[in-house]
Amino acid sequence: MRCLDGKEVSSVIRRQIKEQVQKLDHPPGLGVILVGEDPASQVYVRNKFKACKAVGMKSIEIKLPATICPDDLKAAMTDMNENPDVTAYLVQLPLPRGKGFETQQVMSWIAPYKDADGLTVESLGHLFAGVPKVIPCTPHGVMKILEHYKIPVEGRRAVVIGRSQIVGYPMAHLLTDANATVTICHSRTQNLYSHTREADIVVVAAGQPQFLGKDAFKKGAVVVDVGIHRMDNGQLCGDVDVEDLKGHIEALTPVPGGVGPMTITMLLQNTLKLAQGRG
Ligand code: GUN
Repeated sequence: MRCLDGKEVSSVIRRQIKEQVQKLDHPPGLGVILVGEDPASQVYVRNKFKACKAVGMKSIEIKLPATICPDDLKAAMTDMNENPDVTAYLVQLPLPRGKGFETQQVMSWIAPYKDADGLTVESLGHLFAGVPKVIPCTPHGVMKILEHYKIPVEGRRAVVIGRSQIVGYPMAHLLTDANATVTICHSRTQNLYSHTREADIVVVAAGQPQFLGKDAFKKGAVVVDVGIHRMDNGQLCGDVDVEDLKGHIEALTPVPGGVGPMTITMLLQNTLKLAQGRG
């Protein structure tokens, strides 16, 4: 089973980003708003800032307590929208539950020309209208992994498990654009395996730890695992059972070190693009 190493692909692309950053008059700045103290989100944000520093970008953080109201968040976002040091920014998701935050409404407060994640209605509209500007980072990163490892996509059957705005829908769109025949499966799909077993490429963004084994895939499939979960023993795992897949599928993205680093890399790329006025 081949390892589709996201760290390797990231290091190639981050080197190119660093070179482009050095050509700019001012270093681009990536802003992050973190609401609450979710430990996983804190780790992701730390990794994003480390990655910024490594390519010569500045980072600007606003931390807010989970107890704030939507209006306070909106005020912090206005600061980001107006701060000239902030080239682009994101609001780390998920937002605290039960506090009145509507993710799509919060996204609408991001100035589209500062949309680092590519998740505003404007960015998604451009993507789905066939004139992409900034592209959502995780699905874009998956496409870059497939490209780097020369996994053929055109004419092949792809299944995307999950229909989130952040991964599933844009993923299906990008694969379709690359001329795959795409099926989206989700929590209400009947007989999931009848779809996944037909697929040459399966992108799993189901959010359930180790829930797919070899029975789910045809022999020789390429599997991209978007999931990341912490197990009771402290180790990280994805949505697939890696041990079970060995000797059955052709290639797999590891967790950690697969899609995760690519999400951050594409975030840097979006920020660079917006700094260059290409967004
Ligand atoms: N939480 C997990 N992944 C992401 C991401 O790509 N963007 C944002 N804003 N939040 C996330």
